[in-house]
Amino acid sequence: MRVLVTGAGGLVAGQVIPALEKRHELRLTDLADGDLADADFARQVADGVDAILHLAANPNPDASWDDLAGPNMRAVTNVLDAAGARRVVLASSVHVMGQYRAGPVEPDWPPSPCCRYGAAKAFAEAAGRMHSHRYGGAVICLRLGATVPKPPAKQALPAWLAPDDLGQLVLLALEAPVRFEVCHGVSANTSSVWSTRNNLGYTPTCDSEPYRDQTPDVDGWGPCPSYEEATR
Ligand SMILES: NC(=O)c1ccc[n+]([C@@H]2O[C@H](COP(=O)([O-])OP(=O)(O)OC[C@H]3O[C@@H](n4cnc5c(N)ncnc54)[C@H](O)[C@@H]3O)[C@@H](O)[C@H]2O)c1
Repeated sequence: MRVLVTGAGGLVAGQVIPALEKRHELRLTDLADGDLADADFARQVADGVDAILHLAANPNPDASWDDLAGPNMRAVTNVLDAAGARRVVLASSVHVMGQYRAGPVEPDWPPSPCCRYGAAKAFAEAAGRMHSHRYGGAVICLRLGATVPKPPAKQALPAWLAPDDLGQLVLLALEAPVRFEVCHGVSANTSSVWSTRNNLGYTPTCDSEPYRDQTPDVDGWGPCPSYEEATR
């Protein structure tokens, strides 16, 4: 399959491209080629591919609405419009469900974002669900956890997504005969609060627990604090 990978210069892309390029012909794009908030560029870069892995976004949970409007909302609607009935895999985030503090958090619970970034990802998922219903293409939303080669902080252990599991998940999202899906993209972490129940066949195999002793405490990798927590 010919697959367009957006945000191809980013952190997640760097971890998943090695698994993807063994099976698919990739077209890579990032901001240096053009801005996906520009509908003409989105149409042009998507021309001739069979599917799109849409990773491009501002990944900062503290981003303002102004920061998010272009890369996290307009770019998503442009990519969906450009895709038409072709498959789109959208990078979403566990921040869509960041108000839930006890698990297992199921993927079909009502979205409950902890920040503007999470709310923008909830919008992206809703736009994807509408698009699949109305225009016929498959849209698979992956609520990625802490997607880094090793857990960066104890606070990130429950939501770590290891590169091997990321590769498995994205390949299934591109290939499984599923029309619409929202799936938590986390590994089989002992401390996880995230249900990985899914229809794609994703079966995570990695666990962050063995990293616990060598992992520092670092604020900023847990769920976004509530008003009460922030003002305590
Ligand atoms: N890294 C994580 O732990 C994590 C966790 C949850 C979700 N995500 C999501 O995964 C995706 C990738 O995240 P990442 O960590 O690789 O981020 P990143 O910032 O490393 O990479 C994102 C890339 O997208 C590009 N980009 C941004 N806006 C663009 C635009 N308007 N047009 C074209 N390109 C644009 C940037 O130049 C950048 O290279 C994002 O959607 C992010 O929200 C990441």
